[in-house]
Amino acid sequence: MDQRLPRACIIGAGCSGFTTAKRLQDLGVPFDCFEMSDDVGGNWYFRNPNGLSACYESLHIDTSKWRLAFEEFPVPADWPDFPHHSQLLQYFRAYVDHFDLRRKITFNTRVELAERTGEGLWAVTLSTGERRLYDVLFVCNGHHWDARVPDYPGAFDGPAFHAHDYRDPFDPVDMRGKRIVVVGMGNSAMDIASELSQRPIARTLWVAARRGVWVLPKYIDGRPADKSAMPHWMPRKLGLSLARKKIKKTIGRMEDYGLPKPDHEPLEAHPSVSGEFLTRAGCGDIKFKPNIAELMGDKVRFEDGSVEAVDAIVYATGYRISFPFFRDPELLPDAENRFPLFKRMMKPGVPNLFFMGLAQPLPTLVNFAEQQAKLAGAYLTGRYRPPPPEEMTRIIAADEALHLGPYYKAPRHTIQVDFGLYVHDLMKEIRRGEARAKAAGWALPVAARTKAGAEAMAAA
Ligand SMILES: Cc1cc2nc3c(=O)[nH]c(=O)nc-3n(C[C@H](O)[C@H](O)[C@H](O)COP(=O)(O)OP(=O)(O)OC[C@H]3O[C@@H](n4cnc5c(N)ncnc54)[C@H](O)[C@@H]3O)c2cc1C
Ligand SMILES: NC(=O)c1ccc[n+]([C@@H]2O[C@H](COP(=O)([O-])OP(=O)(O)OC[C@H]3O[C@@H](n4cnc5c(N)ncnc54)[C@H](OP(=O)(O)O)[C@@H]3O)[C@@H](O)[C@H]2O)c1
Repeated sequence: MDQRLPRACIIGAGCSGFTTAKRLQDLGVPFDCFEMSDDVGGNWYFRNPNGLSACYESLHIDTSKWRLAFEEFPVPADWPDFPHHSQLLQYFRAYVDHFDLRRKITFNTRVELAERTGEGLWAVTLSTGERRLYDVLFVCNGHHWDARVPDYPGAFDGPAFHAHDYRDPFDPVDMRGKRIVVVGMGNSAMDIASELSQRPIARTLWVAARRGVWVLPKYIDGRPADKSAMPHWMPRKLGLSLARKKIKKTIGRMEDYGLPKPDHEPLEAHPSVSGEFLTRAGCGDIKFKPNIAELMGDKVRFEDGSVEAVDAIVYATGYRISFPFFRDPELLPDAENRFPLFKRMMKPGVPNLFFMGLAQPLPTLVNFAEQQAKLAGAYLTGRYRPPPPEEMTRIIAADEALHLGPYYKAPRHTIQVDFGLYVHDLMKEIRRGEARAKAAGWALPVAARTKAGAEAMAAA
């Protein structure tokens, strides 16, 4: 390790954290990675003792194996197109062992507090009580663990829980013979409603949602749908238009399955993907209701005025973005999950902080931070110089139009990006930053390289 390079702290060893660790290791940047659990894998570690995984027994990733593989580490040849969560965890463990990262991760250790010192360094307090100073902080704590539950008027007497706590049809509640409402039409709702609506399980199952969605198939023309990317030379508008036509031709009208008409076009929202949901709806096993209007003890009133006797509610209503280790309100998103960042990674004015994997990329988040780590790595080794904060702020607004442009504006889409478009732009930004660095004779990228920072490090 080059001792002149800044020292980094990585919070979390899910797929965003450990691939960031790999990049830093490759570049010789010294780092510590803290993981509160006893192993890597984050969300993909079923029954993770950290209590943060939303993984259920039947979960298969809806990104095909062709799109989720890390560079330099192909997925096993015998994998199915859409692997089970246990296969993904095995792949992650193998990656960490292959690149000898495990000994660099401190397990069973939570970052409790991360504060900027007067010198601009990061003071990190661990669950062991230890306090350490770092030049740079990488936030890789995931954003699908802090369950968001709607606050409906009234009270419900039966079991009601968030999708985050759903493990299988018998855990946390035996759902056999029950009249069930699943709220939401995201991917958690797709999977859980499809599973519970099977005749041996639910007596009746309603999906309640405030808007309709397009339920995309996992396969189109016999191939994983996310494998059919448009050729790179095709103008984006034309590509989107062709993709929309193809999707509509494949699945038809949502109204024909008894579902509401979506108020947007296919691919204007983070896709709800399921090979089963439409069939279950078409068979009448999944029935549709508008959003819940009131909880009435053992009944639920819906926004169309209908009232049903209900035994259990599953809130598949998404997640809040949370950073429990920050106290500074400037470093927290707003109530609508809005958190503008330069290239979805950096906060203008805070040069030594990176948020990794903090996006809702289509088609996958699994190997997203691997690409982001290229910019961070170039920065920490002095090859990349970011633009000044005011320029960053201008670019954030321009990027939102570019990345969020094709997407419907809803709270869950505030961090939406198109993977291909994003990475293309990120690589261009790295080249721009390299030119800026060269022009400025840039060699002092982070706080520790200032005199005050170096002294604070020496004193620590
Ligand atoms: C049910 C479900 C299905 C999904 N399916 C897909 C899919 O099909 N395709 C896809 O691309 N994405 C999917 N996702 C998104 C999922 O978030 C990503 O695939 C991936 O897990 C993100 O990795 P991550 O490392 O950013 O976060 P996580 O996997 O959440 O890992 C974060 C890690 O940080 C650790 N940590 C958190 N706080 C601290 C702390 N203070 N100190 C120390 N350690 C800490 C945690 O213990 C955890 O190990 C799904 C999400 C859910 C909930
Ligand atoms: N098989 C898989 O691979 C799989 C399975 C599960 C989850 N995932 C991934 O995990 C992430 C989280 O998915 P998710 O489905 O848990 O959450 P999500 O994508 O945020 O979807 C939440 C759903 O709840 C609705 N909702 C939110 N607040 C509501 C309210 N107050 N009243 C009524 N409805 C409300 C949303 O509607 P609006 O559209 O109106 O906001 C949306 O339909 C996503 O990235 C998803 O792709 C993948």
